[in-house]
Amino acid sequence: MHQTIQQLTHTLDALHVGAVLIDRAGQIVYANDRLAAVTGRAPAQLLNQPLKELCRRPTATYQGRADLVDFHEPQEIELELRHADGGKVPVIASGRPLGDDPPAAEFRLVTFTEISFQKEAYSHVANLSDTILEQALELKQHSQVLERRVRQRTADLLKANMDAIHMLAVASEARDADTGAHVLRIQHYAQSVAEKFGLDESESERIGYSAVPHDVGKIHVPDQILKKPGPLTSQERTAIQSHAAAGEAILSRQPFFATARQIARSHHENWDGSGYPDGLAADAIPLPARIVHLVDVFDALSSDRVYKSAWPIEQAAHAIQSASGQQFDPELVGAFNSLYHAGKIQQIRQTQSA
Ligand SMILES: [Fe+2]
Repeated sequence: MHQTIQQLTHTLDALHVGAVLIDRAGQIVYANDRLAAVTGRAPAQLLNQPLKELCRRPTATYQGRADLVDFHEPQEIELELRHADGGKVPVIASGRPLGDDPPAAEFRLVTFTEISFQKEAYSHVANLSDTILEQALELKQHSQVLERRVRQRTADLLKANMDAIHMLAVASEARDADTGAHVLRIQHYAQSVAEKFGLDESESERIGYSAVPHDVGKIHVPDQILKKPGPLTSQERTAIQSHAAAGEAILSRQPFFATARQIARSHHENWDGSGYPDGLAADAIPLPARIVHLVDVFDALSSDRVYKSAWPIEQAAHAIQSASGQQFDPELVGAFNSLYHAGKIQQIRQTQSA
């Protein structure tokens, strides 16, 4: 080996990366101790071997390893060295010409930097990311299942509450009306008027179902007064009027029933202050009670009662219009009229009739 190259090998022996010198045929003419250690061989075992026999690229599609022994261009590729025990050692290989003039031009330097640790760390991080991702997905799915269950339970609970309210309402209504159809009509009329008035869907729905037990206090009024066809004495009128406060007292103090209690107490208050039990006027009457007052009177007029036959629907609608500003909130009368002229009131009356 030329003296200049010989001197270079001393420098290469001191390196902490594997290094070889190859000739133009791609044969190893020198290998440093570090490369020998990394590949599990003695330096002498590597001599006169084709470099490409020591290297394999990680991808199966790689056709050759000529780029490492290209004498014209520097190269840097990731590949695997074959270890003597049959294993693989991942490395970054860098090949470069030594110079243009002899003797350096006859040799090429290739160094190998081991990246096993980086590979292992990368694979560990990748596995960890996969695990974290899987756990996050599992958590998300679990939380979706829980949310579905909570929604279902909440719906079941609302349904159970609604069934109880209907049973109670029908039990009290059945004594002076033929069926529970009246309370269902009131529920749908009230919900529609609330929506038309501009309340959002859930609030309107709440007012609808809270309207159902509005007359539950009638359970305290004796049958002979409720069913009396003729004019009432002032004592009998007082007994009937007591159903408003009685209804409020019957209904639970749970927040779920707060609107229902307002409606039960104030659904006979008039806009001009002439109603009962408190003689409230205008905005002092809770809005849900104002709504139920209107639709309750409309339904009473357009249905048969023990003391009267049903009025034609247009006559009942006209009576509501006439009482605007006296019995009823004028804005609510406007909302009711819009629904009536759009056919919505008639549609509810048809679908919710006995
Ligand atoms: Fe009532």
